[in-house]
Amino acid sequence: MSGKEQTYINEAFATNWIAPIGPNLNAFEENFCEYVQSPHALGTSSGTAAIHLALLHLNIKPGDEVFVSTLTFSASVNPIIYCGATPVFIDSEAASWNIDPELVEKAIQERLNQGKALPKAIIVVHLYGQMANMDPLCQLCDKYNIPLIEDAAEALGATYKGRHAGTFGICGISSFNGNKIITTSSGGMLFSADQELITHSRKLATQAREAEPYYQHKEIGYNYRLSNILAGVGIGQLNVIEDRVQKRRANFDYYVAQLQNIPGLSFMPEAPWGRANRWLSVILLDPKQISVTPEELRLHLETHNIESRPVWKPMHLQPVYHQYAIYGGKVSEMLFATGLCLPSGSSLSTADLKRIVTHIKEKLT
Ligand SMILES: Cc1ncc(COP(=O)(O)O)c(C=O)c1O
Repeated sequence: MSGKEQTYINEAFATNWIAPIGPNLNAFEENFCEYVQSPHALGTSSGTAAIHLALLHLNIKPGDEVFVSTLTFSASVNPIIYCGATPVFIDSEAASWNIDPELVEKAIQERLNQGKALPKAIIVVHLYGQMANMDPLCQLCDKYNIPLIEDAAEALGATYKGRHAGTFGICGISSFNGNKIITTSSGGMLFSADQELITHSRKLATQAREAEPYYQHKEIGYNYRLSNILAGVGIGQLNVIEDRVQKRRANFDYYVAQLQNIPGLSFMPEAPWGRANRWLSVILLDPKQISVTPEELRLHLETHNIESRPVWKPMHLQPVYHQYAIYGGKVSEMLFATGLCLPSGSSLSTADLKRIVTHIKEKLT
């Protein structure tokens, strides 16, 4: 926390807005819109809920296919299943570790050749705070008229050619889960230039109540709004988002300066098209040059009370998603097999970073 959050929480208590509606929530949505330069936003109970709302608004149904990055957290994909639809997984490209636009086009053409319909949506994930290659992706979505949903859960503060993550597709989603670059403990945001998308999602997120004095429902609703108390935390956190991006980037730069000379150790690249927020600093260990595996390094760090984590296990390798189609797969499999996410919190001190680097070097050199 930055220290600024408590004021807004106190305000919620003082004014008795203890509900998933109220002035903090309105202000958080407005401030968020201003920061990412999006016309409309809806505060949600989670990023997952925001993705689900986007798919519901698009009327994604059983039998529909949705393309999605395979290298991601399961929450990018689960809402496709909530809608009864079918995910089609697409591998990463090496430059950004994000969805490969060439494979997207290949998948579209192959499926059309098989007599299948176009995907009803594409979900692009901006992994670990780095944006995907948006120009070719947007061109493809325009060409085939496919709605693009941007899962920017990990990428608040990241930009592509100066424009914020989540503002390229029909909508973007953000997450404020406890582990994200800013947090409301749990919470999310759905944001869009399409007012109708946000208005409809707002209705779906509040049990789809119709505008009648009595409780009238014409469609199935959800209880997906963000609490006005948590929105207060969000206002305070948004004040410091740029500091947080700078701090996360500084963590990354420190690791690079200290570790780049180790043969076989490399870093998640920063694609030339934008600014990553470096939500997580990620290294790769080339097995041809380093005999220590990422898991051995993780366990070594663990013995020193330092937490590191494997790269996301690709969705096409997950038992629960095993039966769905995958285009490519080798890039994300390699990243999973050789990658390790290093401690990346905004509150890491120089002494913390020094200690982490010492123990990495101890194991690798
Ligand atoms: C890529 C990605 N998508 C979606 C989510 C879901 O966000 P939430 O935890 O707020 O539901 C997360 C993180 O949790 C994520 O990392």
